Amino acid sequence: GSTAGAPAGSDGADGDVITVGFAQTGAESGWRSANTESMRAAFSAENGFELVFNAADNDPAAQIAAVRSFINQGVDAIVIAPIVEDGWDDVLQEAADAEIPVILEDRTVSASEDLYATWVGLDFRKEGQTAGEWAVETFGDEETNMVVLEGTTGSAPANDRAEGFLEAIEGSGITTLASQTGNFTRAEGKTVMEGFLQAHAGEIDLLYAHNDDMALGAIDAIEAAGLTPGEDIQIVSIDAVRDGMQALVDGKINFIVECNPMLGEQVADLVRQVLDGEEVEPAYFVEDQSFTSEQAAEVIDTRPY
Ligand code: AHR
Repeated sequence: GSTAGAPAGSDGADGDVITVGFAQTGAESGWRSANTESMRAAFSAENGFELVFNAADNDPAAQIAAVRSFINQGVDAIVIAPIVEDGWDDVLQEAADAEIPVILEDRTVSASEDLYATWVGLDFRKEGQTAGEWAVETFGDEETNMVVLEGTTGSAPANDRAEGFLEAIEGSGITTLASQTGNFTRAEGKTVMEGFLQAHAGEIDLLYAHNDDMALGAIDAIEAAGLTPGEDIQIVSIDAVRDGMQALVDGKINFIVECNPMLGEQVADLVRQVLDGEEVEPAYFVEDQSFTSEQAAEVIDTRPY
């Protein structure tokens, strides 16, 4: 456990309003909207917080600038959903020097654990593995041509979901025809898939999309090319947001691994604990599920996002 940067008697510790700067990645996906909502709800005025919210539009430099501005404002704590893994050492050191604790949510960084108090999020590598295991169960030794829509280059989920998937399909008949980033967005998922379909007409059996939004964009491209998503090209993706689950129920996506965005309450609890000087673990993993079409149909109406 670590209490890096915990201030000696912060505003938060004595019952006053706790000011928290939250550096969100942007608004790239349905997952992100649900995560922002969960954070806003947990860091509400009723719960004793003042939230200073910044969304960096997927620009790592802008996100670091936002964190610097939180430090200059003298917030009580900083929460970051880091766009990319690298490049955090300097600004995290500045926060530590200013005795402002940093709590990471969702994505991880490559910087030393000493530079932040704790992290809470999902096991992206396992998500990739689960997606890959489904692909192996479905295609086995059969010669299978896959295309991949990667998340934001340099982001923890893009790195780990790629690694976990490749590990799982090792020794199977699945090979990668093409792999390119779609930045976790629907629009880029569509344009990149259009390129794949042109370059590899009639060859693609399987699409692995690092999130539902890119899969949904790709579905538009596949349909526009006169093909049937889920049949001519099978699709596996990650997140299990509402629109993704609907496409799974409709048979356009074949399998989805969940990535739970409802992290707000746990992050808020950790912020309080860290400000109170309590020992916390360096990392907290939240459990994910996965869904076939039939399983999605059973749960779709009761899911919170
Ligand atoms: O970091 C989590 C990822 O970021 C989600 O899977 C994706 O949809 C989001 O943009």
